[in-house]
Amino acid sequence: MAILGAMPEEIAPLLERIETKEIDYANNKFYLANYKNHELIIAYSKIGKVNSTMSATIMREKFGAEVLLFTGVAGALKTGLKIGDVLFATKVVQHDLDISAFGHPFGFVPGSPVFVETDKRLNKIAVDVANELGINLTSGIIASGDQFVCDESRKEWILRTFDAAAVEMEGASVGQVCFALGMPFFIMRAISDEAGEKAEFDFDEFMVNSAKTSANFVLKMVDRL
Ligand code: ADE
Repeated sequence: MAILGAMPEEIAPLLERIETKEIDYANNKFYLANYKNHELIIAYSKIGKVNSTMSATIMREKFGAEVLLFTGVAGALKTGLKIGDVLFATKVVQHDLDISAFGHPFGFVPGSPVFVETDKRLNKIAVDVANELGINLTSGIIASGDQFVCDESRKEWILRTFDAAAVEMEGASVGQVCFALGMPFFIMRAISDEAGEKAEFDFDEFMVNSAKTSANFVLKMVDRL
């Protein structure tokens, strides 16, 4: 089973609690562990769609992962979502994929779906874990792009165009990999900022804590799988 984050802070809470063996590969580090009857492969991909595509593919093709859980932080798009809140993606979409000049919808290129659905069984386990622990967990469409969104008009556009609840930089690329390779996947995010003006300041202040919230939640899910 793969657990992937994008930044060191997003997997640090896991590495603090699980004994791992470190493997260097493809200019990155992968952490192997036996944990509660699971063979885990843990990594942070580095930020962005390309890096996360590479890591998800490596986790599947080189390390044999059969399921992927993503953990990390996101910017809130919908007004109900506040810093520290947790959500999982029902579907993921690339907000910066744009061949609309040819009359195509945003997020679309021929041969790939605009929205990729996450795994219903994993999502149900997340809901069960949240209910058991009394955690307020929401869900929605998560939009990804190679851009830290800290601009009201871009934020509004992504929300309106895709009805997305949150924005980040990896979920949809991981989703494309998992869809193509037939790997069930789950995308968990805790809110670090509200993706508007000055979001970078909130991100700096709240990212570590939100990353911890997300990682701890995902680890609770592993206990159930
Ligand atoms: N990850 C966390 N906050 C984000 C934002 N505002 N834009 C893109 N990715 C993010």
